[in-house]
Amino acid sequence: MTGPSLIRQRKIGFIGAGNMAQAIMKALVDSQAVPLANLYATNRSPGKLLKVQETLGITPVKTNEELIDLCDIVILAVKPQDLVGVLEPIASSFHESQIVISLAAGFSLQSLKRLLPNVIGLARAMPNTPAHIRKAVVGYCLAEGAEAYEASVEEVLGPLGIVVPVEEGELFEALTVSCGSGPGFIFEMMMYWQEWLEEHGFESPVAKQMVIQTFLGAAELAAQSGEISIQELQDRVVSKKGVTAAGLQSMRELEIERALRYSFEKAVIRDQEIARGTSKQ
Ligand SMILES: NC(=O)c1ccc[n+]([C@@H]2O[C@H](COP(=O)([O-])OP(=O)(O)OC[C@H]3O[C@@H](n4cnc5c(N)ncnc54)[C@H](OP(=O)(O)O)[C@@H]3O)[C@@H](O)[C@H]2O)c1
Repeated sequence: MTGPSLIRQRKIGFIGAGNMAQAIMKALVDSQAVPLANLYATNRSPGKLLKVQETLGITPVKTNEELIDLCDIVILAVKPQDLVGVLEPIASSFHESQIVISLAAGFSLQSLKRLLPNVIGLARAMPNTPAHIRKAVVGYCLAEGAEAYEASVEEVLGPLGIVVPVEEGELFEALTVSCGSGPGFIFEMMMYWQEWLEEHGFESPVAKQMVIQTFLGAAELAAQSGEISIQELQDRVVSKKGVTAAGLQSMRELEIERALRYSFEKAVIRDQEIARGTSKQ
C-alpha cells in the first residue's frame, strides 16, 4: 500500500453474513486492514451473526437501518434476488458520503443507482471463494461519478487477493465467469481427476491429496515462473511421442478447448439473463 490507509478509521458494515461476506470478513480480519472494532454485520437469521461474532469478533447489528447509520462503507452481501427487497425500505437512509459495494452477481450499476440515488460512491465487485484464504481474484467497477472512491474500494478489496478494475459489460461478464465461477469449474475437473485415481486403486483421501498437489504444484510453478509463458511450462512436461504427448493429443482430438469455451459462453448467457431479470425489478 502506498500512502496512509483510507479505510483504517472507517466503519465497515455487511448487510448479509453468508458465505461471501464471511470470506471477506475473514480476509479483513486476518490482514488487519481495519481494526476489529470497526467491522459490523446484519443477517436475516441470527445463527450466522452469532457465528461471525464468535469466530471472527464481528459486531452484530440488529437492523439494516442501524447498520447504515453506523457505517461509512456498506457491503451488500445478500443474494441478488433479495437485493431489491432489502434496499427498497432503507434506501433513503443511505447518504452521499457513504461507499456502497454490491457483490450481487448480475446486478448492474444502473439498477443499483436507481435503488440508491443518494449514493455517489457506488461500486460493484465480483470476488471468488478463494477470498477465504486471501487468494481471490476480485473484479470491480465504479458507478459514474464514483471515481474519487476508487482507492478506498481497492483498499477494502485488497486483502482478498488480487484486485482487477474492469469496465461493466463484456469485461465484467468475462471476469465473472472465468474467475467468479472459475473455482467451480476447476473443482469439476478435480473431481474427475480424483475419481479416476480411485478407479485405479488409490484410497479416496490419498487420491484427493494427489489431485490437490498436482493442481497446486502446476499453479505455483506458473506463479513463480516470471516471464515464462504457460505454453513454455507445458512444453517442458511434454517429450515427443511420450506419455504426456499422447494424453494431450487425445485432449485436443476430443476438443477440450471447445468444451471449455462453450461452457464459458453458456455461463455468460446465464449471467446476462440474470442481469436482465434484476434490471426489470
Ligand atoms: N458465493 C460466491 O462464490 C460468490 C461469488 C461472487 C459474488 N457472490 C455474491 O455474493 C452475494 C452473497 O452470496 P453468498 O453466496 O454469500 O450467499 P449466502 O451465503 O446465501 O448469503 C446471503 C446472506 O444474506 C442474508 N440475508 C438475506 N436477506 C437479508 C436481509 N434482509 N438482511 C440481512 N441479511 C439478509 C441471508 O440470511 P439467512 O441466514 O437468513 O439466509 C444470508 O446469510 C450474492 O449477491 C452473490 O451473487 C457470491
